[in-house]
Amino acid sequence: MDVSMEKIVTLCKTRGFIFPGSDIYGGLANSWDYGPLGVELKNNIKQAWWKKFVTSRLDMVGIDAALLMNPKVWEASGHLATFTDPLVECKNCHERYRADQIDLKKACQKCGNKDTFTEPSSFNLMLKTWLGPKEDATATVYFRPETAQAMFVDFPLVMTSSRKRVPFGIAQIGKAFRNEITPGNFIFRQREFEQMEIEYFIHPSDWEKQFETWLAAMHEWIVECGITTSAIHDLEVPKDELAHYSKRTVDIEYDFPFGKKELYGLAYRTDFDLTNHGKASGKEILYTDPETNEKYVPHVIEPSFGVDRTLLAVLTSAYHEEAVEDETRVVMKFPKHLAPVKVAVLPLSKKDELANVAYPLAEQLAKRWRTDYDETQSIGKRYRRQDEIGTPFCVTVDFETLEDKAVTVRDRDTMKQERVPLAELENYLSKQLGC
Ligand code: GAP
Repeated sequence: MDVSMEKIVTLCKTRGFIFPGSDIYGGLANSWDYGPLGVELKNNIKQAWWKKFVTSRLDMVGIDAALLMNPKVWEASGHLATFTDPLVECKNCHERYRADQIDLKKACQKCGNKDTFTEPSSFNLMLKTWLGPKEDATATVYFRPETAQAMFVDFPLVMTSSRKRVPFGIAQIGKAFRNEITPGNFIFRQREFEQMEIEYFIHPSDWEKQFETWLAAMHEWIVECGITTSAIHDLEVPKDELAHYSKRTVDIEYDFPFGKKELYGLAYRTDFDLTNHGKASGKEILYTDPETNEKYVPHVIEPSFGVDRTLLAVLTSAYHEEAVEDETRVVMKFPKHLAPVKVAVLPLSKKDELANVAYPLAEQLAKRWRTDYDETQSIGKRYRRQDEIGTPFCVTVDFETLEDKAVTVRDRDTMKQERVPLAELENYLSKQLGC
């Protein structure tokens, strides 16, 4: 269903998925903190991605590189020269805009002045800091604007230590930083965000086939995340709009509540990065095919996934409102493996006799799955609360439990209830949850 950003942002704040960063100080522009449920959802997304694309494949390995790299990396990668957005400033109120995101013939959105913008200038998006006690040019370093470059720079060490043969890939999940001129739309465009990236090293003659294979794998992932597939669109990026390193890029777009925007990107980066790092470092990066003895610089297919954009697409796809009796039930229909809480234990009353069974049961289940324990308010209200955070199963302990040693298990999606013996509960949940 279509959902407004307002509903998603409110649910995220009230239920503990995502909060404004530094909230008690009035926030910090466009910074967001993941709360108790948000961090579980985000971790589940990252773990599912790592399992699908790294640990379950023999042709993939992972790394976790430093955020700050030698500044020569960004010279060789082209980021210092070309990782820029066109910036204009209103001469009257000094508000700054991305020139490609506004109509320069129209009035300034902030002060209403017309014919007011400066000529566009190139604004580099990399965030700078200093390493060590000197704050000068010799100590300047950049927070990485993409996780990708470490996979190129580490390529020789990864290849020799893991003894991989082309085709193979290196993956990484981690933070990236961009001094975006106009961040916004909640967690869609941030200055500090997370990426899940793969650099897949291939023989140049193989690139078209590999590109299609990776595009299909990215679509498979989208389905596994429960993202509405009818809201997904592939955009073949026109030649004159390609990034400086790319020979072909397909952007996978999603119909976010604020419009159709980029969710992921798939690029054919050729040998651009390995060749440039080879030249700039003076250490040529070559691969020798063990069978043919052919020496060549591997080419690269790069599937790039934003963690935060995945989470936003998962949230907006999972959101459902359903009429139940005279009420509207809000239910987050997360795929079970992504749900932040897998099971909630709800004693029917606060009486000790029930808590004595229910609390140890919750502790036992928590050893396997993220488990919630809730004994306040009516059972109906507690079910609604769990629906709103997308908990697949609620386990109710009632007075009959004391006699028949069984509990009622309620399914989030069907709302059907089933009596399950306590002795079989773990097996039952494990089968239903698939984990
Ligand atoms: N290594 C290639 C690369 O970084 P990109 O299209 O600039 O390509 C890849 O970024 C992905 O990172 C995007 O598809 C998006 O999911 C995510 N992303 C990029 N900028 C972002 C931002 N400012 N905030 C949140 N996510 C962002």
